[in-house]
Amino acid sequence: MPDAAVAVIVVAAGSGTRLGRPEPKAFVRVGSRTILEHALETVFSLSEPVQVIVVAPSAQVAEATSLARATAGSAAPYLSVVTGGDTRQQSVAAGLAELGPQVAVVLVHDAARAFTPSDLFEAVISGVRDSGGGVIPGLPLADTVKQTDWTGKVESTPDRATLAAVQTPQGFPREALVAAYAKATEQHTDDASVFSAAGGTVTVIDGDPLAYKITTPWDLRRAEGLVAPAGSTSGIRVGTGVDVHAFDDSRPLWLGGLYWPAEAGLAGHSDGDAVCHAICDALLSAAGLGDIGTRFGTADSRFVEAHGDIFIRETLELVHGAGFTVGNVAVQVVSNAPKVAPRRVEVEARLTELVGAPVSVSATTTDGLGFTGRGEGVMATATALLNS
Ligand code: CTP
Ligand code: MG
Repeated sequence: MPDAAVAVIVVAAGSGTRLGRPEPKAFVRVGSRTILEHALETVFSLSEPVQVIVVAPSAQVAEATSLARATAGSAAPYLSVVTGGDTRQQSVAAGLAELGPQVAVVLVHDAARAFTPSDLFEAVISGVRDSGGGVIPGLPLADTVKQTDWTGKVESTPDRATLAAVQTPQGFPREALVAAYAKATEQHTDDASVFSAAGGTVTVIDGDPLAYKITTPWDLRRAEGLVAPAGSTSGIRVGTGVDVHAFDDSRPLWLGGLYWPAEAGLAGHSDGDAVCHAICDALLSAAGLGDIGTRFGTADSRFVEAHGDIFIRETLELVHGAGFTVGNVAVQVVSNAPKVAPRRVEVEARLTELVGAPVSVSATTTDGLGFTGRGEGVMATATALLNS
């Protein structure tokens, strides 16, 4: 390995329990690249050459190695990948064991802080060089803080002005950090605590909101917003659906998932609920999953006389299974009867409940023209918006 005076240990061995994805957090994609790649891209862009030690879960060492090599490019000789431990502290210790002989300053960085700007790394490196002690980025707290044992009782209100929410990279002189880790007996949640417990001095410098840690699904959405080009609608999908059923006086009318007494019913293999069927087609169309006819064929006995709610439930299962959530749905009923306006609020509430997202319903006639104008049947059109 070529000599470098600075090493960055990128800890990526956690499972990401709070993110709730099947893959470990560092391997979750934000846009087209994993969290680990985003983090490493900055580390490999620093102005001086640094040794980069990636600490990965044991099952992902090979994957981490190939991702990190690709990101490193010509800096690959400065890279090593090691297996982490059960706790963050053990993972950092595994990284420290890999330090090259010339390293004098060590930065420890959470892969999960994937969008930390390079100037924060540079500030921490020069802070360690200038002070000879530990240097950590911190931000003032926006919220008032309470001390509680989480049984519901508030014990005290520490003065927010004296507190900092700390981030990574955290930088330290190599020998003192290695010694602090060697003698640590307790588990700490950051490196500065390990360093202080061994008697080291730590200074806080200004952190950066972009160095936030991707922890929850909400944080991940924020990350997606950071990588999406301005004005981009990536992750949003729109779909349309139309359905038509002819009137059949001998049947009861079901429309929008509701029963309409004293109205002519609609013909069909199911209950003929054109509104629900148009919604299903719009949802399937937005998800790229085909249409109601191919998904729920007339040969399927589950759908004989089936009400619209059954189709919507089955459709949502497919749509959610494909990784989408519904943003909203808009439906328009095109027909002379029934008059929708008096029950519009009720229909919207019923459909919103079924879809689990806002559904708006409007209605129009066609000025006596066409099959709806002649009162031969009902047409419904729907537009659905999905988020991926
Ligand atoms: N980390 C690690 N080894 C562990 C635990 C955590 O290398 N045994 C790393 C994570 O990969 C992450 C950083 O430490 O980059 C900060 O930890 P955190 O955000 O808590 O990540 P996870 O522990 O993976 O997430 P969670 O606590 O939600 O399970
Ligand atoms: Mg954790």
